Amino acid sequence: MTSAAEIAAQLPKKPSNKVSHIPGDTGPFLIGYTFEFLKDFPGLTNRMAKKYGKVFRYRAVMQDVINLLGPDGNEFVLKDSDHNFSSKLAWDVVLEELFPNGLMLRDFDNHKLHRKILQGAFKKNALEGYVDQMGPLFDERLAKWPANKEILFFDNIKKLLLEGGAQLFLGMKLGREADKVNDSFIAAVDASLAVVRIPIPGNTWWKGLRGRRYLEKFIGGLVAEKRKSTNNDFFTQICHATGDNGEVLSDKEVIDHMIFLLFAAHDTTTSTLTSIVYRLAKHPEWQQKLRDEFNAINVDHLTYDDLDKMEQTSLVFRETLRMHPALPTIPRRAIRDCEFQGFKIPKNAAVGVNPLYTHYMPEYWSNPYKFDPERFSPERAEHKKHFYQWVPFGGGHHKCLGLNFAEIQSKTFLYHLLRRFEVTIKPGYEMPFQIVPLAVPKDGFPCVLKPVKK
Ligand code: HEM
Repeated sequence: MTSAAEIAAQLPKKPSNKVSHIPGDTGPFLIGYTFEFLKDFPGLTNRMAKKYGKVFRYRAVMQDVINLLGPDGNEFVLKDSDHNFSSKLAWDVVLEELFPNGLMLRDFDNHKLHRKILQGAFKKNALEGYVDQMGPLFDERLAKWPANKEILFFDNIKKLLLEGGAQLFLGMKLGREADKVNDSFIAAVDASLAVVRIPIPGNTWWKGLRGRRYLEKFIGGLVAEKRKSTNNDFFTQICHATGDNGEVLSDKEVIDHMIFLLFAAHDTTTSTLTSIVYRLAKHPEWQQKLRDEFNAINVDHLTYDDLDKMEQTSLVFRETLRMHPALPTIPRRAIRDCEFQGFKIPKNAAVGVNPLYTHYMPEYWSNPYKFDPERFSPERAEHKKHFYQWVPFGGGHHKCLGLNFAEIQSKTFLYHLLRRFEVTIKPGYEMPFQIVPLAVPKDGFPCVLKPVKK
């Protein structure tokens, strides 16, 4: 019998547009709904759902995509018990040249093997090591954030996480070389969204490919040293990680995974921390609750166990990710004909599930537009109606490997931010979100940090 991997390998790079039997339409000639998809993704989804139901198709960014809305659709596609869907084929379209061979760009047995090896870098003892490094780093950087004047939070957190990433992920000290690494990384990330994908000296794509080559060379040059190291940075952990049968990653695999991990971690965490701090600025009572929780811990250097005590912070983390999942939609490609709730999904069709839509379904969430962290409390546990109703980290085979890392990083940052500052915004301020490809503020999120009296 042909394996799922063999079937996927034989499919063309481009998805098939033979999906006209699914309710929906292709929208304006040639461009389809690309404009609306980029400018108003929730509006487009809601309008199509109202007209066609929870399974529909539309054309956007040159692809006809079958959308499955809601927890059952998420489960069918993400859990993928029958291996009907490829993550690689879907993500290759955007990421193959800049972030090749990352975990999301692998499928089935090969993905399983690599995921198992990488899990070593996310085990409890590795996470404990990261917490030890994060706290002092955040504290030191936050001490330099300007108080009592308007700042753009997004720009500041992005810079902090980039500099922190160089230290935490690569084990580098700040300096000119770290700046060069960060610039190269940003060039590659920017290029992943480029429309023109032909390298012309000076254009975004050209800069992205050049950035990628620099990262490969830089990281490649350190692998031998990291294999001997006993440090607690990510790079060292990845070099030492082994599979069930003692498999280790080759130098090239280490390089590809490291660059992909930087990519998977950076924009998602930047987006999430911005959304959390925005929600806390809108709800000063929750800001104070968290500050009280932190003051009860009251240590200069947090440990991994301290983070477990932050129950209110966990509620805020979850509620913010419900309202503002960094990735509003998750793509896949069908590798064989299959069927969902009576709808035939043909081989090679582009398929999308939609965490954002799911997170606002009134069938699952009371008053879904309200910021209400306690809906996740053990007493109310609204999130427990369906295993796939809260999916900011995806689910199934490709569920985010860094979800615990993201939570400890967010908690550590908030601990140091809120013990130092009160975050304030202008009365009535609403942050304008750009939703696709990632949830980020269009205005950088202006706010003022007021020192907290100790
Ligand atoms: C709040 C922050 C984060 C969010 C919202 C987030 C979200 C996601 C989502 C939705 C996926 C699934 C994509 C898919 O199924 O196609 C994913 C996968 C992944 N994430 Fe995250 N992520 C976050 C932080 C991180 C961090 C900090 C790391 C690493 C340190 C990381 C590493 C990964 C990796 C390696 C995968 C691929 C897993 C696989 O294919 O098996 N993520 N993430």
